[in-house]
Amino acid sequence: MTHKPLVLSGMQPTNTLHLGNYLGALKNWVRLQEQMPCLFCVVDMHALTQESGYAKPADLARATREVTAAYIAAGVDPARTPIFNQSRVPEHGELAWIFNCVARLGWMDRMTQFKEKAGKDKERASVGLYTYPVLMAADILVYKATHVPVGEDQKQHLELARDIAAKFNNDFAVPDFFPQPEPVITGTATRVMSLRDGAKKMSKTDASDNSRINLTDDADAIAGKIKRAKTDPLPLPASKDELKDRPEAENLLNIYAALADQDRDGVIAQFAGQQFSGFKTALADLTVAKLAPITAEMRRLLADPAEIDRILRSGADRARAIAVPIMDEVKKTVGFVT
Ligand code: TRP
Repeated sequence: MTHKPLVLSGMQPTNTLHLGNYLGALKNWVRLQEQMPCLFCVVDMHALTQESGYAKPADLARATREVTAAYIAAGVDPARTPIFNQSRVPEHGELAWIFNCVARLGWMDRMTQFKEKAGKDKERASVGLYTYPVLMAADILVYKATHVPVGEDQKQHLELARDIAAKFNNDFAVPDFFPQPEPVITGTATRVMSLRDGAKKMSKTDASDNSRINLTDDADAIAGKIKRAKTDPLPLPASKDELKDRPEAENLLNIYAALADQDRDGVIAQFAGQQFSGFKTALADLTVAKLAPITAEMRRLLADPAEIDRILRSGADRARAIAVPIMDEVKKTVGFVT
């Protein structure tokens, strides 16, 4: 049996979003929305596993609305694609519990992101952080979603979701009940690195604000950060091969190509042999031109939080219309009296 194509993805409402979130994820979501039905979720339950979300109720609510505004400002159309916060669809949590009983400790112990995030003092990490990938599997499978756009760092979590789906189908003798969700890995061209260190991903948790371009930065801030971006003393390369071992040059060229919707070879040819100063001016102008309408739209949306809440409520209603019948079947399948 083949499952109907359905895309699901989500972002955590933690801190503010940046250019990496836009070029690496949101821009791709907007494109996917043209190709398949999609659901985009703001994973507020996952945010409770992070210091920036836990025991900070006002920050969590603000960040949830901000991320919602970013989805819409980037081009996700809430009339077509449900946008909702995870906690509003209780079926995510219900399925996560059942999946906690499907997943094995041995599988969970292999999760590299938990090891990174828990750090040395594992005993003090929350149980929620440990079982985070199980909730993520539930986010996807509660809709029987088939395609999941995620970054490289989430690939292992998606493999876990596939393992959970297969084990559930097998253990409860319901072949093909859950699909095997496939990653939609976004191309390397949109992997945005830190402006201070071309070997590190642009990240909302980096201590230096100069390392990232936030979706809330104004034109001056954007231009300043790009001028200060780390480079090397050579002029811009004339070919792809000359980019080897020049991660900062590569990152800036990738950003340019992604923002301009050009292929990278064309951008390399355009700036070949030039100094960084001129290229940086062009890149700053392009970044401002592309981000300004998005930040303006975010600001407009955030000025009316009641409208954002209406969008989230309507998105959740439509998401539940898909999740509830699937959860009913799951409950019957495992033997819950319903
Ligand atoms: N773990 C994902 C991240 O940090 C966020 C996430 C939660 C997610 N649930 C999801 C992504 C379901 C895709 C599908 O990026």
